[in-house]
Amino acid sequence: MIGHAGRLAVDPLGFLEQQRAVGAVVRLRLVGRDCFLINSAEAATQVLVAQQDRFDKGGPFMEAARQLVGNGVITCGAEDHRVQRAEMQPAFSRGRVAAYSEVMRACAEEATASWKAGRPVDVGKEMYRLAALAVARTLVSAPAGRQAASVMAEALPQLLRGLLRRMLIPAAWVHRVPTPANQRFDAARARLDAAIAEVVAQYRRQERDRPDLLSRIMAGEEGGGRRPDDAEVRDQVMSVLAAGVETTASLLAWSFQLLARHPEVRNRLWEEVDGALGRRPVTFDDLPALPFTKRLLTEVLRLYPPTWLLSRVAVRDAEICGHPLPKGADVLISPYALQRDPDVFPHPGRLDPDRWLPERLTTAQRRSFLAFGAGRRRCMGEFYGMTETTLALATIARSWHLRPTRPEPARPVPRFLLVPARQPLVPHRRGDRR
Ligand code: HEM
Repeated sequence: MIGHAGRLAVDPLGFLEQQRAVGAVVRLRLVGRDCFLINSAEAATQVLVAQQDRFDKGGPFMEAARQLVGNGVITCGAEDHRVQRAEMQPAFSRGRVAAYSEVMRACAEEATASWKAGRPVDVGKEMYRLAALAVARTLVSAPAGRQAASVMAEALPQLLRGLLRRMLIPAAWVHRVPTPANQRFDAARARLDAAIAEVVAQYRRQERDRPDLLSRIMAGEEGGGRRPDDAEVRDQVMSVLAAGVETTASLLAWSFQLLARHPEVRNRLWEEVDGALGRRPVTFDDLPALPFTKRLLTEVLRLYPPTWLLSRVAVRDAEICGHPLPKGADVLISPYALQRDPDVFPHPGRLDPDRWLPERLTTAQRRSFLAFGAGRRRCMGEFYGMTETTLALATIARSWHLRPTRPEPARPVPRFLLVPARQPLVPHRRGDRR
């Protein structure tokens, strides 16, 4: 009855990688639903870009996500998306991100202010705190925004585990049974809902006082005068927190886990950061002088894309690489599996930032790199996220050197997003080589 769901639940990453050899499009059976897994960059480009009018947000992954973020910009259908994206896009422009950059850098300094040399830190948690602070200060700046980000930090692991179960077992009744796991999920969601309701209420009370994304949306400035109701605003706050915090936190946590085990890569990062900055703090204008840092972050995203699975539903009959996909079919695309295709990325498990050097970059690599998605639904926060993580990496690398506590590398944990298993690292002051 459960079809492939069992194997997908037990070892999703291994299962998806195995399927790559089966064909460009593979039909899976997930608890009574047919689902098509897309296994080649060409087929993924067809779904996400060339034939994007035939595919909308949907499928088990999105249905699960809607239980958390409702009908916000990440999950909404094509019709609502046009309006919602236009409302939010200006907040992610180059100029706006440049204006946020000083706050982003300050967040990295603040997040590491309590580190003590030699005392292990839970780097996943620390990076989450940094990312939550940055989004709360730049995009959702009401005092309750920070509170909502910290409630989300506490509730998210529970919610993400629950969403993964809902995605793999897409049968609503299973999740209504009052099991301890379902009760924990419902309680975590209720806590988060209450925190977000307070954000919305604060914005309603003083919406004109803040120059950030949500006050503008609420005041109707970005949407040509359209003022969304509380439910729409709630979904948008939830979407920005869900899209903008765990993704960058995961990217930074993976970066430090990998740097701790690759001294040759870490030395090149130090060389670049020290050469570009000397003793002064990093600014937005330094970004062009940090190309290795950018390649490193891109390579980390290739190895461990936080959004390891994308999902769509066919809204019209389609044909992808010779395979008919009927209207209503669920479609899954795994950036994780495509970005580890050895035909496109030789030695795919190796951390090699230089594979992104312009002279080594191939069209196949570019097409297979789907960490930010593609087409109309491509990540809106890509520039924001890359700026935040570059500034954070440069700020932390100037002062700190993080060493592993265990011999084995951190294991990837595919929750709703892909995160490293908890593994503390030990910070040491740069220059202190003990
Ligand atoms: C390393 C960091 C990030 C990664 C890897 C990432 C990845 C993605 C991916 C893969 C999608 C497309 C999902 C799909 O097609 O189903 C997406 C969408 C989105 N992301 Fe990001 N993201 C990151 C950072 C951010 C940040 C920092 C923000 C905002 C603060 C953000 C906001 C969004 C939004 C609003 C969408 C929905 C776009 C739409 O449907 O039009 N992301 N992201």
